[in-house]
Amino acid sequence: MKTTLLTERDIETAAAILRDGGLLGIPTETVYGLGADGLNADAVRRIFEAKGRPQDNPLILHIPEASWLERYCRNIPAAAYTLAEKFWPGPLTMVLRRRANVPNAVTCGLNTVGMRCPDHPVTLAIIRAAGVPVAAPSGNRSGRPSPTCASHMLEDMDGRIDAIVDGGSCGVGVESTIIDLTAPVPRLLRPGGLPLEALREVLGEVEVDRAVLAPLSAGEKPKAPGMKYRHYAPRAPVTVVTGESRRTARYIRRRLGEHTGVICFDEYTSEFPGCVVESIGSVEDREEQARRVFDALRAFDETNVDAIYAQCPGDAGLGLAVANRLKKAAGFQIVDAGEAEA
Ligand code: TXA
Ligand code: MG
Repeated sequence: MKTTLLTERDIETAAAILRDGGLLGIPTETVYGLGADGLNADAVRRIFEAKGRPQDNPLILHIPEASWLERYCRNIPAAAYTLAEKFWPGPLTMVLRRRANVPNAVTCGLNTVGMRCPDHPVTLAIIRAAGVPVAAPSGNRSGRPSPTCASHMLEDMDGRIDAIVDGGSCGVGVESTIIDLTAPVPRLLRPGGLPLEALREVLGEVEVDRAVLAPLSAGEKPKAPGMKYRHYAPRAPVTVVTGESRRTARYIRRRLGEHTGVICFDEYTSEFPGCVVESIGSVEDREEQARRVFDALRAFDETNVDAIYAQCPGDAGLGLAVANRLKKAAGFQIVDAGEAEA
């Protein structure tokens, strides 16, 4: 299959690919997605094949506005509309009870479905023109870092899908925040582009699923099936170093070998001579870190590094999402620089 690159002007062509059951790369504000008609089970199954995605990992349905929620969900709590009003279009996915018209291929048999309204004018126009909800996981091959521009998606998907719409670089850079509104207390299943603090301001109490912060023990089942897989990982093993940034830099400096890769804050780029260094933004600039973290992880695969160390932001704001992606890339191989010095 030849994969065509489309531009922002090709909305009708893109919509036709979706309507015909094809696979389409779509830009969003978070990361690029691999979209198909979310009501066409065969098309949805081809998403899993193209990605090499495990069969038990459900997809998110993308819609152009909150009024579409009723078509695919039932027992929708008032909080869903409050959140939609405040944060849609934007980097928030809500898990709600699904209706029977949502194919099992999308939900992997769950009685819930993740719903999201992405903040990208081109993709919103494509979904409206297609007239169907778009099932879309991130546009990477399974296990790889998510793509934040069309060329990264092409790297993973060339020859496997019909087309990719180039809508520029993603402004947020990490995937959407996922909140489960079917739990007795709203539950954060994945930290992402919308900070947990913003959700708490609207919802009050929000529980954080264990899978967000720590590796699961053998046999333990996370609420978001995707959280159990090693993910975002470069080929070389990653170690995440937590703690105050001067300390983490010192810890990493003491461990440099001949082919070491380092993910660091901008302030520290010159401190790792002879290493492959990927900086992800200034210490406190968590938005910039979110925009750059996947590109940094992806970049090492073009080098000969055999070990990667990463400085890690704290959990406030988008730091929770950036830290989560780094820790997942590391398979939760984490050291605390403060404890290591003590
Ligand atoms: O920003 C995003 O959310 C991007 C863009 C393309 O919209 N999409 C994305 O999709 O990140 P994906 O498939 O890479 O991640 C979806 C996550 C997975 O961890 C999956 O297990 C979880 O959402 N998920 C989907 N439906 C669910 C459900 N009904 N209940 C719990 N978790 C669900
Ligand atoms: Mg993904």
